[in-house]
Amino acid sequence: MTTVNLENFYKRADEAEKEIAFLKKEIELLQQNVETNNSIVNSVSMDEYVKLKQENIKLKHRVAILKRTVEAERAKSENKLKMSENNAISLYDTLFDLFKKAISVAYPDVCDPPVIIISNSNERFGDYQCNSAMALSKQLRNDGITTKPRDVAGNIVSKVEESNLISKLEVAGAGFINIYLKKEFAQKTLNTLVKNGKILPPYTKKQKVIVDFSSPNIAKEMHVGHLRSTIIGDSIARLLEFLGHDVLRINHVGDWGTQFGMLIAHLQDRFPDYLSVSPPIADLQSFYKESKARFDADQEFKKRAYNCVVKLQASNPDMIKAWQLICDVSRKEFEKIYTRLDIKLMERGESFYQKHMEAIVKDLEAKGLLEEDKGRKVMFSKRDNEIPLTIVKSDGGFTYDTSDMAAIKQRVEEEKADWVIYVTDAGQSMHFQVLKHCAERAGILKSCHRIDHVGFGVVLGNDKKKFKTRSGETVKLSDLLDEGLKRTLEKLKERERDKVLTEEELKIAQESITYGCIKYADLSYNRNHEYVFSFDKMLEDKGNTAVYLLYALTRIRSIARTANISQEKLREMAENIPISLEHEKEWKLAKVLIKFPDVLIKITNDLYLHHLCEYCYEISCVFTEFYNNCYCLEKNDLGEIVNVNMSRILLTEATAITMEQCFSILGLKSVAYM
Ligand code: ARG
Repeated sequence: MTTVNLENFYKRADEAEKEIAFLKKEIELLQQNVETNNSIVNSVSMDEYVKLKQENIKLKHRVAILKRTVEAERAKSENKLKMSENNAISLYDTLFDLFKKAISVAYPDVCDPPVIIISNSNERFGDYQCNSAMALSKQLRNDGITTKPRDVAGNIVSKVEESNLISKLEVAGAGFINIYLKKEFAQKTLNTLVKNGKILPPYTKKQKVIVDFSSPNIAKEMHVGHLRSTIIGDSIARLLEFLGHDVLRINHVGDWGTQFGMLIAHLQDRFPDYLSVSPPIADLQSFYKESKARFDADQEFKKRAYNCVVKLQASNPDMIKAWQLICDVSRKEFEKIYTRLDIKLMERGESFYQKHMEAIVKDLEAKGLLEEDKGRKVMFSKRDNEIPLTIVKSDGGFTYDTSDMAAIKQRVEEEKADWVIYVTDAGQSMHFQVLKHCAERAGILKSCHRIDHVGFGVVLGNDKKKFKTRSGETVKLSDLLDEGLKRTLEKLKERERDKVLTEEELKIAQESITYGCIKYADLSYNRNHEYVFSFDKMLEDKGNTAVYLLYALTRIRSIARTANISQEKLREMAENIPISLEHEKEWKLAKVLIKFPDVLIKITNDLYLHHLCEYCYEISCVFTEFYNNCYCLEKNDLGEIVNVNMSRILLTEATAITMEQCFSILGLKSVAYM
């Protein structure tokens, strides 16, 4: 295959876009025409009615043709990209395109024909199925054409182009089209995968994406809710990075607002030398509590605190210095957690947007979008049941809403983001919904932008109550991670791993298991649900858990190692030995592996990572079936290897590479020995 000149294709894609825009306008006009014709039908004579109806049919026909032209243009530029050497092929996408084309050739007059492709878990009905015929037959009936779904299916099948993906198509039952995949395609894909030593992402249009996640608040403890945001956000960022998007990981920390006046005023009293000597505010929590108590009890102090905020927001150098000191203390604490969990983030807190907030208030005011409400300035989204954003408080200060309005504008206009993802607890979903609608109303967001709020449920303890320490305090994250490490070590010792592994290996295993388990437990359930934090459950070595999967991968990798075949050797072998998929279980495993691009595309659409965990678990279960039925290494009675099935060793390697890529997206670290 020749390397594709991307630039050329982008240029052509741009041209096609322009053409599409033009054709879309034309279609709109035509559709309007169609509608006008429909609406005057009641007031015209029969003759005219018949004439109009014919014209209508012609117009519909023309719309269908135009739509096809548009799609063909788009497909031309995109298909080449999809097929390029740098991308893995998505079965779903390819089948979808094939059937879409076949349907439009079979039924050229049907506008927007339904293309329904599903993947089958029961092989009896094909590996995939196209279920368009039933819906299409209904649609045809509405247009006055009666055909049986089975005939429609047959007609579609006759129009499906030759493809290296499909071995057989058959019409079944009421009009289902069963699609059987070609073994050669899977074999080639897997051989290439092992030869490359890595898996390639499926094609996606590259975008600039901002993932706003973690985002704890300065001077306050980072809690389990922030831990969830950190884990989910990191995994989404990893997925999008793998797909080749330009990802900006932003930590939108709460580092601006009234509480800083209070903290600074307190710092000035307790530690007047703070400008020259590092102050003892290591325990920021108690420092925060002290200042809060004074703020609530002492009017004089309160006044001074407000005064400090005003000065801080006007960039008074001493205030900025004091504020930085406070932020640094928190930042160090947050950093420790990020380092342990291997999370990369760029801090850009609310304070970053001070100038942008001043500007956006003016901007919204000038556009007449702000309304007075008891001294506050608010902005309505003008949608039913949506509360307004508070843009300016009655004391003139800005709010969380102001910083998010300013941030969304900065992200879209300065960072040129196409897509912004916010990861916070589900409790904030209304905030982000209103934010999006207000930003649309203000003309900041256009139809080309994608905004997602990735919400998640609350974290509960084993007692199904809000996650707290025994004494009812919020749990310190570092203590939680420590506890995890301790529990994992106990488990490893129970299995006497400390006797087999070196100290170094044991430590690596302990950390990968602990952090892997915490992440996996979070990611493997539907994020909308509440989630029970339980070390006992996450450390189980059976079922869909990180421990089980980490063990599975170690075992898979140990097969080639036992046969003394190095990674390099495997890659070399993949060039010359075709992976055989003759055994039913080999074929079953291969089909699961080549589904990987589809799984990723699905997650990119709905941002539910539990699909990837389920997929990982499916791989390991199907691999076990394969391993129990197909020997890879044959041993004699003495336990010596007498025969190595090279093709199967390659299949185990393809499995390992796929699992490893899943782990990498989930933020799990695989271990060689555990
Ligand atoms: N600091 C906020 C909190 O702890 C989360 C910020 C999320 N990001 C945003 N752009 N609002 O709830």
